Order: sequence, then C-alpha cells, then structure tokens
Amino acid sequence: MESRSVANIIQRGGTILKTSRCKEFFTPAGRKKAYNNIKKHGIDGLVIIGGDGSFKGAQIFSNEYDIPCIGLPGTIDKDIAGTDFTIGFDTAVNTAVEAIDKIRDTADAHDRLFVIEVMGRDAGYIALHSGIATGAENILIPEKKTDIEDIVVQLAEKERRKKLMNIIVVAEGDEFGGGNEVAKVIKERLPLLEVRVSILGHIQRGGSPSCFDRLIASRMGYSAVECLIQGKYNVFVGIVNNRMHYMPLNEAVKKKQRISDEWMKIVKILAS
Ligand code: F6P
Repeated sequence: MESRSVANIIQRGGTILKTSRCKEFFTPAGRKKAYNNIKKHGIDGLVIIGGDGSFKGAQIFSNEYDIPCIGLPGTIDKDIAGTDFTIGFDTAVNTAVEAIDKIRDTADAHDRLFVIEVMGRDAGYIALHSGIATGAENILIPEKKTDIEDIVVQLAEKERRKKLMNIIVVAEGDEFGGGNEVAKVIKERLPLLEVRVSILGHIQRGGSPSCFDRLIASRMGYSAVECLIQGKYNVFVGIVNNRMHYMPLNEAVKKKQRISDEWMKIVKILAS
C-alpha cells in the first residue's frame, strides 16, 4: 500500500481490499498460503481492523509467522475493551437513528406500536445509543434484564387511553431473541394491540462513514503506522479518554467492553 492506494476512499463504506471472514484462515494450510502471499507482495506489516475474531486470527498468525501485526478496533458492535470508540459504530448508530426517526413519523401518525430491531450481535450498544437518541419508550439490551411485565402494563394503559404511539428498540441479542420474538410476547399478552416489527438489518453495516468515524479511523491508522515504524509489534491501538491507548494484542482478545453503570442508570430512567 502506498499513500496513493487510499486516495478518494475516505467517503466510502466497505473495503477496497475485499477482506472478509475467511474459513481457510482457520487452517494451518490457509495461514501458510496467506504468509506466502504476504511475502510475494512485499508486505512487511499488517494492520488488522476488526473485532474479536480478527484479533484472534492475527495473534495466531503472528505466533506462527514473523509478521508484525497491529490491531485497530473496527466493529459496529462497539464491544471491544481498551478503547472508548470503535470504527464504524458511530456511522451505524446514525443510520439507525435516521431510520427510527422515520419510523416514528408513522408511529405518530397512525398511533401505533413499533418494535425496531437493531444489530450488535450479543452487545446492546447500538440499541442503547440509538434508543436514547430517538427517545424510544423502551430499550431492550442483552446487558440488562427486561421487565416485560412492566412493559405490558404500560402498553395496556396506553391501549386503554388509545394513545398507542410507542417505540421499542430491541438489540438483536436481547434475552427474547430479537424484535419478532418481543412482538410475539406482547401479542400473546395484548392480542388486540396492533404491533409492527421493523428489522433494520444490514443497512447499519454500510454507507458513507460519519465525520466522527473518519476522524477516529485516521487517528488510529496514523498511530498504527507509527507503531510499525517504531517496531512496536502485536499491539492493539485504541482511544481512551481522548488519548491513544496501547495494549498487547492478546489482551485485547480476552476483554470485552461493558456498558458503563452510568449508561445503565440513564437507560433505566429514560427508557425502561
Ligand atoms: O459484528 C458485526 C455484525 O454486523 C453484528 O452486529 C451482526 O450480528 C453480524 O455482524 C451480522 O453478520 P452477517 O453479515 O454475517 O449476517
């Protein structure tokens, strides 16, 4: 890669390298093939942008072969420890917020209950942030036990008053198993209630990156190259308290970012 290789891409989503999950890389033969390709193309360092799985792969690879690896947090799930931000999260949340705002218009006009499922695998960050930012009436995340009885009571009262406009944002990894399942539970309890489910899906994974994501990606990318130049290998680069934060790649694999107590309190008060 030269500086020219990355010209005119900062505004684009996706990958120009066409990197993606690769089953072959799980096998020693696959990793050997990767190493041979690396040598063939004169690549002398790897910057791995990804999450848990990518870092595990990098760690195994750098143990087997003499190739310096630097890990950068890149996931819309924001579930990596050792950094306050992950590349892609802000863009995904903004996409979710835009979509939920649009759905709210129908919810308001038709006075309807919407259950909206967002991504995040087994983490609730996208649901938490998009739910708070759109004023969702309820936010269901895997990190917090849901009092479904309480939600049913609230909805029954709204049904009685004929004021049904209600947005429930559900993380796909919540305890019920996502939006359809939550809607099913509500329908069982309140059969006359009209419930609409919207699964936002892969629109959250693509599109032009937000300004914030472009800035953190540039900042982390710069630091990754600095690490390679200074010979700091097998390091994870994050941002903590607005400063660059470095830790061994193998530690980054072990830890998961947890939702802070402060956010847990806020979500309890604003949307429970
Ligand atoms: O880890 C990122 C993520 O978008 C998750 O939020 C989601 O569960 C998963 O990937 C979707 O993966 P796939 O594209 O393989 O369906």
